[in-house]
Amino acid sequence: MSQTVIQAENLRRVYPRADGDIAALAEVTLAVQAGETVAITGPSGSGKSTLLSLIAGLDRPSSGELVVLGKRLGDLSEDDLADLRRRHMGFVFQNYHLIPTLTVWENVMLPLLPQLGNSLNLRGRALHCIEHVGLEKRIRHLPGELSGGEQQRVGLARALINDPALILADEPTGNLDAESAEAILALLFNLAAGHSRTVLLTTHDRRVAERCSREVRLRDGRLAANRQGATA
Ligand SMILES: Nc1ncnc2c1ncn2[C@@H]1O[C@H](COP(=O)(O)OP(=O)(O)OP(=O)(O)O)[C@@H](O)[C@H]1O
Ligand SMILES: [Mg+2]
Repeated sequence: MSQTVIQAENLRRVYPRADGDIAALAEVTLAVQAGETVAITGPSGSGKSTLLSLIAGLDRPSSGELVVLGKRLGDLSEDDLADLRRRHMGFVFQNYHLIPTLTVWENVMLPLLPQLGNSLNLRGRALHCIEHVGLEKRIRHLPGELSGGEQQRVGLARALINDPALILADEPTGNLDAESAEAILALLFNLAAGHSRTVLLTTHDRRVAERCSREVRLRDGRLAANRQGATA
């Protein structure tokens, strides 16, 4: 039986502007099941990053309901939201967001350092995630010593440190050449297929979107299309 990981009802996010409010998202209704890989596509400014931020609980909707991993986000305090993210979500960013003065190993441990300290357990978990993305020979390198594709693999290893049920990735292949992009995608799709993890990514790349199990297309903050069913 499939399990609903994200349920959005009439989601709306309005930004007030001097020249009138702008609806970054309007009436977005969407359900995502465990194990899906969903591409959110649409032109620049269509609301893709806004939707991802709302699902992550990093931003609050102006109206509408959002249930993520069984929690009604509107009922949660900021601390509860942070806790939900720390326990169950992983993030991958277009610009990697690595700390330049920390090694690969330290960067990957970072999200759980406040909880687990620099313990053997945490170091072991980080190493496991780094091995998963094939960078075990680079653990003591700094981000500046790595290629873009390698840095994004570190970003993915860091996103996996808490064994997340939901991975949110904002243009994870946006800065990568075709080969590096392929490596990241293969890893993301493996995670979804093998471990029933759910992956939501935004992309401008048609080829990336077509490889996801579903495409959700936005236009001016509204759902323009919802394609089901390519290869996972
Ligand atoms: N903090 C903000 N204040 C005001 N308007 C905002 C803010 N953040 C986003 N917007 C507006 O909301 C709309 C959607 O932005 P969003 O960043 O979600 O688009 P996007 O689809 O991710 O674009 P891109 O492909 O360029 O990343 C845009 O019109 C943007 O200008
Ligand atoms: Mg964006």
